[in-house]
Amino acid sequence: MYLAPPNATHLNEDDNQSIQNLFTDRTMSNYIKVAALADVPVGGSKLVEVNRIRVALFNLDGAIHAIEDVCTHDGGPLVEGTIVDGYQVQCPRHGARFDIRTGAALSFPAFEPTNTYAVQIKDGEIWIEEPR
Ligand code: FES
Repeated sequence: MYLAPPNATHLNEDDNQSIQNLFTDRTMSNYIKVAALADVPVGGSKLVEVNRIRVALFNLDGAIHAIEDVCTHDGGPLVEGTIVDGYQVQCPRHGARFDIRTGAALSFPAFEPTNTYAVQIKDGEIWIEEPR
């Protein structure tokens, strides 16, 4: 069954693709399929976008984590940061560090955590809790 969104006539092509993905790729309530597990090798990262929210996927020793790709200091792209001490990402702009597992801000100049999203792996695909 397809449920047309109420304002479907006002959506652009990207919006329609996003909505189609929501309706066709979702098999777990509130989770969205975002990438193949093979796309994020151990020690690697990948940027995805869901609902116009940028999400950075990180693979820490085989465990996938998803955090919002926004440094809370000044919006730096965390997916472009450096992984340090095995579980922290250092923002490429001014060096704030975040715990990839929890989103917690660990060092100046960031004080607020960044959002995190629950992850599930199913049949070699990465699913994340739908960002809102
Ligand atoms: S934008 Fe990330 S530390 Fe400033």
